[in-house]
Formats: sequence, structure tokens, C-alpha cells
Amino acid sequence: FRLTDCHNFHDFRAMAKRRLPGPIFNYIDGAADDETTLRRNTTSFEQCDLVPNILRGVSEVDTSVTVMGQKLAVPFYCSPTALQRLFHHDGERAVAAAAGKFGTMFGVSSLGTVSLEEARHISRATPQAYQFYFHKDRGLNRAMMQRAKDAGVEVMMLTVDSITGGNRERDLRTGFSIPFRLNLAGMLQFAVKPAWALNYLTHESFKLPQLDTHVDMGGGVMSISRYFTEMLDPAMTWDDVALMVREWNGQFCLKGVMSVEDAKRAVDIGCTGIILSNHGGRQLDGSRAAFDQLAEIADAVGDRIDVIMDGGVQRGTHVLKALSLGAKAVGVGRYYLYPLAAAGQAGVERALGQLRTEIVRDMKLMGVRSTSELSRANLRFR
Ligand code: FNR
Repeated sequence: FRLTDCHNFHDFRAMAKRRLPGPIFNYIDGAADDETTLRRNTTSFEQCDLVPNILRGVSEVDTSVTVMGQKLAVPFYCSPTALQRLFHHDGERAVAAAAGKFGTMFGVSSLGTVSLEEARHISRATPQAYQFYFHKDRGLNRAMMQRAKDAGVEVMMLTVDSITGGNRERDLRTGFSIPFRLNLAGMLQFAVKPAWALNYLTHESFKLPQLDTHVDMGGGVMSISRYFTEMLDPAMTWDDVALMVREWNGQFCLKGVMSVEDAKRAVDIGCTGIILSNHGGRQLDGSRAAFDQLAEIADAVGDRIDVIMDGGVQRGTHVLKALSLGAKAVGVGRYYLYPLAAAGQAGVERALGQLRTEIVRDMKLMGVRSTSELSRANLRFR
């Protein structure tokens, strides 16, 4: 199985599955409860069809978009995901570099495994978002916001769908934890996945990555789900966020908005963007797909705030459908994580390149020369 054999999402996923130890693969691949929302995220794109136009002179197409004041060369960005150096030793470094090459934004997770300053430096030619969670430790929240400001991060992104941990049963079964530890069952898994282990031996002397956010976990080891429940503040309200928006005084978006009412409140408190997202199905199972909520929310607030969506994006046509319904851009998560795990930066670049190629081809087949020409006229629901 070589990188050149990977032509789509499913190929990269299969390659990642071969290379990664079971607990790590399942951490990426899994979601909450019965994983119904995870599946629906992708099938929701199949509820509607594209209606192309012809003979429009499409020898050149412009894939760029402007979102939250940032010009992106492509209508997608790399959504923040945790613990990337566990998937490949380059982790966030590889993703930041690949995003930079494609002229798009990289969202650094506050559960990241390189410092946000280093990621900012690597992707300095393109905008960077810093995703953070509202921790019970208010001092930590202030310190992280200050670091992001000092590092010159363009977009602050507060994730609001994770104030308690989603029920990720695959992680319960495998014992996946942060900081990452090997238990006996895990060791057996690692013995049968030597490529991953060798990668660490060669490059990191088998030092497993640590979190950049120096949270005091009392020396403990916990599941990601327990981390959310114990470290994040479920008492967070709109007033807390309004204060943060004022303090940041720049581009600020909420990640995990799903209702029209909340989208309107985000506008009221001065957010400049909202990300419709169910966290890749990893939090509330049974939650609606972002794509299914998109039209309603774009109609309600699309002229006052930039609407982005993520979840289930695997194809250029998914991106075009989202833009046609009113999204300014889409986020991708697993779409770049499997390639990262499979082949590091080369994998991420190949995957992002394929998505861009598909978007250019599909725009030509749709008869649109720029992303701004996509509209509801290009879509029909069944
Ligand atoms: C995530 N996601 C996420 N979101 C966030 O705000 N902070 C985080 O640290 C993480 N970590 C994370 C880890 C992994 C392994 C996955 C798969 C996802 C959610 C992510 O930003 C995005 O919302 C989803 O991944 C989008 O769904 P797809 O593209 O993976 O289907």
C-alpha cells in the first residue's frame, strides 16, 4: 500500500488503519454512542443534487474565498484536531506546512502537541486560527489567549460543544488516554504495528508527545472524554464568551453552533464567524448534520456573520454543495488526519491537492468560474 495508491478519503483511511496501532486509529476514526451522527454527516450531502450549467467559459476558475477577513486560496481549511504528533511524529508541523502550501488556514488545537508559536511560524504565510476550550482554570484561559495574541494568530476559535465529554466507546474499550500511555493490551497492538513505533524510535527516541497547553492534571492520566468533563467549565455562559470576544478584539468565532437562536446570539455578542459543527459526531450522537442545518442558519444570519461548516466532507462536490447553500468555507478533519497518519506531510499534501483538484474540476463541470457564483440555483433537494 503506497501513497500513490491513495486516490480518495477511503484509500487514505485504509492506509492509516494499516499503519496505526488500534487505540490510535480508533481515537481518530471513532465517534460518540452508536456513531449515527458520524455516518449522517457524510450521507447528508447525498440528500441533494447539483444542477450544472453549461457553456460559461470556464478555462480559468477562481477557488479562493474570504472568510473572517482572511483570504484563503481554497474554500476549505484544516479544522483543529488534538494530539497530531501521536498520529505521525511531525504532527501539527506537517499539517501547518501543508496548509501553508495550499494557501489555507490551519486551526491549531488547544490539545495540540507542538507549541502554537511554532505552528504559527511554520504557516506564517497563511492565516492561523487558535482553537481553545474554556477551562475551569480561568488563569489558563487568559494565558492561552495572551499567547495566541502575542504569536499573531488571526482567528480565535472557541469550541462550545464539548463542556462535557462525549461517550466514545471505542476509546473506553482501548483505554486511549492523555497523556498517552501503553497498557499491556496496547503493547501487543504496538508490536504488530512496527512502522508507527519505528517512526518514534528513529525521530523522537520514543518520547510520546506532550500537550502544549500546560493543564494541571495532577499527574493523572485520563480519557479525552474525562478530560472534557473534569477540566472544562460546564458553567460557561454567553456572558463569559461576550467578555472574551471584547478582550480579544479581533476575529472571533464559535465552533459547534447548531441552532438559529444561537447563531443570532453569536452575532449579538460580536462574533465574526460561526462554525456549524457536531465535532465530527464525537460529542452529541443523534445531533443533526451541519449540512442539514446550513440553509436555515445562512438565511437567518449569513449577511451579518461568516458561516462555516464542518463534518463528513470527503469530496470536492461536498464542498461545492456547502458553498451553494450559503457556507463561506468548510472545515475538514479526518480528511487530512488519515493522510497525516499514513504518510506525514506528503500524505496531507496529496490529500489537500486531491480536494483542490476535485473542486477545480467540479466547478468547471458546474459552469462556475468563481466560488461566489455558486448559489441555491445550483442545488435541488430530492
Ligand atoms: C477533532 N475535533 C476537534 N475539534 C476541536 O475544536 N478541538 C479539538 O481538539 C478536536 N480534536 C479532534 C480530534 C480528532 C481525532 C477528530 C477526528 C476531530 C473536531 C474537528 O475539528 C472537526 O469538527 C471534525 O473533525 C469535522 O468532522 P470530519 O471532517 O472529521 O468528518
